[in-house]
Order: sequence, then C-alpha cells, then structure tokens
Amino acid sequence: MTTANVATPAAPLTRREFLYYVWAASIALFMAEMGGALIWFALPRFKEGEFGGVITLPISDLPTPDSGPKDLPDVRIWLVNLGEGRIDDNRQPGEYTVNGGVRALYKICVHLGCLYKWVPTNDRFECPCHGSKYLASGSRIDGPATRNLDSFPIEFVDDDGNVLAQSGTAGTGKSEEGGALEIPSGAVAIRIDTGQRVEGASNTQPGGGI
Ligand code: FES
Repeated sequence: MTTANVATPAAPLTRREFLYYVWAASIALFMAEMGGALIWFALPRFKEGEFGGVITLPISDLPTPDSGPKDLPDVRIWLVNLGEGRIDDNRQPGEYTVNGGVRALYKICVHLGCLYKWVPTNDRFECPCHGSKYLASGSRIDGPATRNLDSFPIEFVDDDGNVLAQSGTAGTGKSEEGGALEIPSGAVAIRIDTGQRVEGASNTQPGGGI
C-alpha cells in the first residue's frame, strides 16, 4: 500500500509580515515616481528652433539697419535692426533711451496679449485690439499699454560657436537685458532665447509725436 504525498499548506502571513510587504511596496512605488519625476525634469522642455527654445538664424537673415522689422511668426518674434534713423526718431520717448543694433521683440502686446502688427505707412507697430502703438525700438508711444514691448535675450556667435556678444539673460538684473546689440565683426549667426522673456520697461509718457 502506497501513501499519497499531501502538500503542506503555506502558513498564513502574520500581521507583521503583511505590514512589511505593504511598506516595501509603498517605498518601491515612491522611488519609481521620484525617478520618473527626475527624468521628466531633466528632459529639455522645448526643442531648439521652436518657440520656448533657442532660435538660431544666420546673420544674413537679419534686417538691415532702419529697414522694416522682420516677421518670424512661428516663433512669435519681430526682429528689428535699429540704426541712426531709429535712434534719432523724434517720437522716441525721452524717458527711455535706445541703443543701436538688433533686438528680438516678443509679438504679443503688453496690454492684454493681442498680436500687434507693423504698419509701414505709419512706421510703427499698432495693436488692432485697443490701439496701443510702439516704435520699432519697442518703445511704447501710445496706450492703453503702459510699458515697452517685451523682448528676448540674444547673442551673436562666430563660426566655431563662440559667443561674441550677448544682451544679458533675464533675471540677472542687468539693464541691457533684451536690449539692442550691434552685430560684432566675425559673427555668423544670432541666437535668440525665447525661453527667457524680458519684460519691457515701464514707459507712460508719450514721445515727441505719435
Ligand atoms: S491688447 Fe494691445 S492694446 Fe490692448
């Protein structure tokens, strides 16, 4: 006569073991979430060449001094090149001085966020929503906006990618942040950082003539 093997039933989990497994699972889940969050923050949010990232353009794409602004609609920029004519413009508000060179202006009106347009016949930007007006320099010359246009920091680089000049980065407190930069000799490209908008200075006085 043979004897059948009978499996021994597993011992039930004790309360202590059960709590241990729950604790271990919670820690594992927490670590997985932290790892995912770290990877998420480490990934670049914006791709180069898209709004929110760094835009690189060859110098040949820049407007010539005092010509009309260049529209870059995909990246929400008006590129301007301020020459003597813009600096000496008698509509320029006296409380806000302008340097010559290139600026990258943010295309959104600082009043309530409409897209303002360049109007060649009036030689100025005009907002279709409530009538604010700005010079090519970005200076506000008529409200209801109460400050100059916002802009983006720019830098010029040579063939090897060396930075030859930069307008400053938002948050450094430099007065030239987002300001105009002359194109340095040897520059082959401009880089515009659309991830760092520089707020236009308060400017509530009309200029010499709208
Ligand atoms: S949004 Fe441009 S003037 Fe109001």
